[in-house]
Formats: sequence, C-alpha cells, structure tokens
Amino acid sequence: MFEAKLIVDRDFVLAPLDRRLFGVFVEHLGRCVYNGIHEPAHPTADEHGFRGDVAELTKELGATIVRYPGGNFMSGYNWEDGVGPKEQRPRRLDLAWFSTETNQVGTHEFMAWCRKVGIEPMFGVNLGTRGPDEARHYLEYCNHPGGTALSDLRRSHGAQEPLGIKFWCLGNEMDGPWQICQKTPDEYGRIAKETAKLMRWVDPSIELAACGSSAYDMPTYGVWEDRVLEHCFEFVDYLSLHSYFVKPPAGQGSDTSTESFFAQIETNARYIEDTVAIADAVATRKRSTKRLKLSFDEWNVWYRARHGEHLKQAGWPEAPRLLEEIYTAEDALLIGGMLTMFINHADRVKVACMAQLCNVIAPIMTEPGGPAWRQTIFHPFAQAARWAHGDVLRSVVKSPGYANAKHGELPYLCASVVHDAATDQTAVFLLNRHLTDPMELSITLRGLGMDRELVLAEELHSADLNASNTADAPDRVAPQPLEGVAIAGEQLHVRLKPASWNIIVTKVLRP
Ligand code: AHR
Repeated sequence: MFEAKLIVDRDFVLAPLDRRLFGVFVEHLGRCVYNGIHEPAHPTADEHGFRGDVAELTKELGATIVRYPGGNFMSGYNWEDGVGPKEQRPRRLDLAWFSTETNQVGTHEFMAWCRKVGIEPMFGVNLGTRGPDEARHYLEYCNHPGGTALSDLRRSHGAQEPLGIKFWCLGNEMDGPWQICQKTPDEYGRIAKETAKLMRWVDPSIELAACGSSAYDMPTYGVWEDRVLEHCFEFVDYLSLHSYFVKPPAGQGSDTSTESFFAQIETNARYIEDTVAIADAVATRKRSTKRLKLSFDEWNVWYRARHGEHLKQAGWPEAPRLLEEIYTAEDALLIGGMLTMFINHADRVKVACMAQLCNVIAPIMTEPGGPAWRQTIFHPFAQAARWAHGDVLRSVVKSPGYANAKHGELPYLCASVVHDAATDQTAVFLLNRHLTDPMELSITLRGLGMDRELVLAEELHSADLNASNTADAPDRVAPQPLEGVAIAGEQLHVRLKPASWNIIVTKVLRP
C-alpha cells in the first residue's frame, strides 16, 4: 500500500471541456460499416439497414461526434458514388484496403445513422486523388440550401433541408507513404489552403482541420507541421493528430512491460505539447495572435491486428475481417489513462476520435446475424463521456512513481477532474498504475463546497490483465462499484486497487 494526493481548486480552471473530446470514427474499412453498423439482414436492422443493437451500444458509449468516411479510404473516395439511387451506385476497387466498395452506404445513409444515434457528423474531403474542385462541390451538395445544380441534386435525393455538416477534415494522413497520393508538406499545405478558401466561400460557418503528421514518430514530424502551417495557418481552425498505442513484440531486448505500455500516456502528452509549440511558433512567425486548436481525430490501442492483412488478401473481398483487435483489461486501463490526459489538455485539444467504432480497432464488436458486445475499452470511454461535463480543473498530483527510460520518474497516479457548475457535480477520473499495490488516495476539492454526497463510484479492475470480452463472455471485464469512498467536507478518501481505473462523482448539497 502507498499514499497519494490529488488536489484541485475551483478557481484554477484549465478550460471548459469540449464535449467533442468523446468522438469516434467510422471508416469504410473491413466490417466497420458493412456487417458492422450496417447489416440489412440483421433482425434489429431499421429501414436503412442499420443495426438497432449497435445503435443502442453507440448511444450507451456516449460518443458526441463521428469522423467519416475515412481514414485512408477518404483519399480515393468519390462522394458522387455514394448518393442517388442505390441500384445505380458503382462498385469500386478501394485501393486503401484492397477491398470492393459497394457504395450502398453513402452520405445520406450515414446522416440518417447519425440522426438515429444522436451524434454530430465530422466529414472529410478527398485530397488524395482529388482536390479543391470536388471538395467545394461536395460541400455545396451537402450544405447549400438550394437553387443550384448540386444543392438541387441533393434535394432530388430526398434531403430538402441542407445537411448542415459543420466539421470537415482536409484529407487524411497526407504525409504517409501508404496514402493514396501522398504529398510533400508544401504540396499538401498549398492544396489545403486553396481547398479551405473555396470551402469557406461556399459555407463560412464550417470548421476545418488540416492534416498534421500521421504519427509522432514519423521521420518528418515537426517539419511537416511547420511547412503545412506556413501555407494554411490562417485558413484552418484545427491541426489533426493521430496516435496508435503499441506494445513491442517480445524479444530483441524490447520493453514489453505494462509500466512501459502505460508510459504512452506521457508520450502522447508530449506529442500534444510539442505540436502546440510548433503551431504557436508559426503564429509568432506570422505575427498572429491566433491559437490553433487540435483535433486528435484517430487514437486507440492497435498493435495485434497490424500486420498488413489487407495486403495479403486476394480477390478484392467485400467487408473482409480487417484490423479486428481484441482488447484486454490492460488496454482498457491505458484508454482510461489516455482520457485523463486528453481532459488535462482541454485548453488546446477540442476534438478527439477513438478509432474506430465497430469491429475495426473498436469498442463495439458484432457477429453477422448474431450479437453485438462491448470490448473492454468501451467502459472507460463510456464512463468519461457520460460524466465529464463542465470545466476542467488543474490537477496537482502527489504520488510516488516508477522509472521510465523515456520520461524519467512517472507518478503511479494519473488523474483528471471536471466540475459542472450547472449541476454542482464533480467527476474525478483516476488510474492507479501500480501493478501490485493499492493506493491510499486523498482528494481535496478546494472551494467546491463543504457538504457533498456521492453520486457514483466505479472501478475497472481485472486480476488478469489479459482478460477480454467475447461474444460468449461479453461482461468479463466491466465496471464494478468502488466501495469505501469516504467524504469529509472538501476531502475524499479512497483506496484504489492496483492496476485499476476509477471514477468518483460527487455533488454539492444545497440547502
Ligand atoms: O484507423 C485505421 C487507419 O489508420 C486509418 O484509415 C488511417 O488514417 C490510419 O493510418
């Protein structure tokens, strides 16, 4: 057993939490769309072919925004293929995932799904094989009220009102050699600027995200951000970040420890802080007071189903099983820690999308004609999305720690605190990274009210860090009540199990 402290003060607000921090991602990839969220023959399917059980789980997950239609898929996508009568839509080779795209789900079907699950869409334009002209046409088709060829085409497809899609990604991972039509930073920066200019002229109310590097460890990271922003800084609102958390294969002297796996929380914090530094340096160079926001629009654990399966398959299959990562309790703990880290960077990170939603590196799994279930990583995401509302308070953590080769001493405790003045509720999110010892934790909620009651206390813990949820045992890893939370004025005391993710919500009692 060891002791740790967490202290926050009502007056020390980092930033209001943007609820779009709890976004997800749906790509035309493997079984994410087809035989995932969409399966017309499934007993729970609606009139558009969307599974009702997956829609219910998506609502329970609490995702607020969804990125679509890719990913790498976006860089070869013709939006025109996915609108109009379904029987006339072309089948195409998808060069991103070596699959056949049937186009039976496109813009209108996906918007119907967004309405069904109550989630905001975040669309992207193809800056791989295409460019500014198609981008402005797609936006006009979606958002212009009417009276032009493209907006009237939309209306003839049944959508009288504009679709009102506010958030647009300017391409995807354009630095990556795997990308359809990879670009240099100058090529991409120029095209991003011109596309942004045209799109804003069509609809000034939109928000735009430019591609940052596809990963922190890309050899061109930093140079890419700097050059791209040199071209398009004034024209975009967000810079996009992507990160997939890995565990190296055993052998070759690699560190496969859980402690090292958890240190990716700090690696990604640095990624955010370094990217902010680059964006702000560009601002300084341009004598601008603008502070670019970050859209962390792909993130998750992904290292098992990552051996280029799509390159090995023959025959251009439809909706093959690709990237179907099975998550463990250990992964769920890292996801919880990552959420605390995102919350603690809410001053600059305004949007984040767990990649992806269904079957493909996903919190929700399905079997065709069969059940849908929650992977382990579903739980910390759902808890945070449900309870994190209001202002993020600056957390001061006092905790013993462990040595990490990359970052030095890391505290066992990762924590974030969000206070909602509207409801007087305070949510505290906690990861105990100690693998064997419980943590005796004191929490001081300074200035947040002396008289409070417990609303919710839950823990996610598994004696077996390799435990997974499956179709046959869907609830093996799931939150349980966290017992023994003591409240005394502004102080909370609790014992956290080793290797556990926890959430405590309290509420001030008003006379
Ligand atoms: O999410 C899977 C893939 O990972 C996306 O298509 C791509 O953007 C990233 O490399």
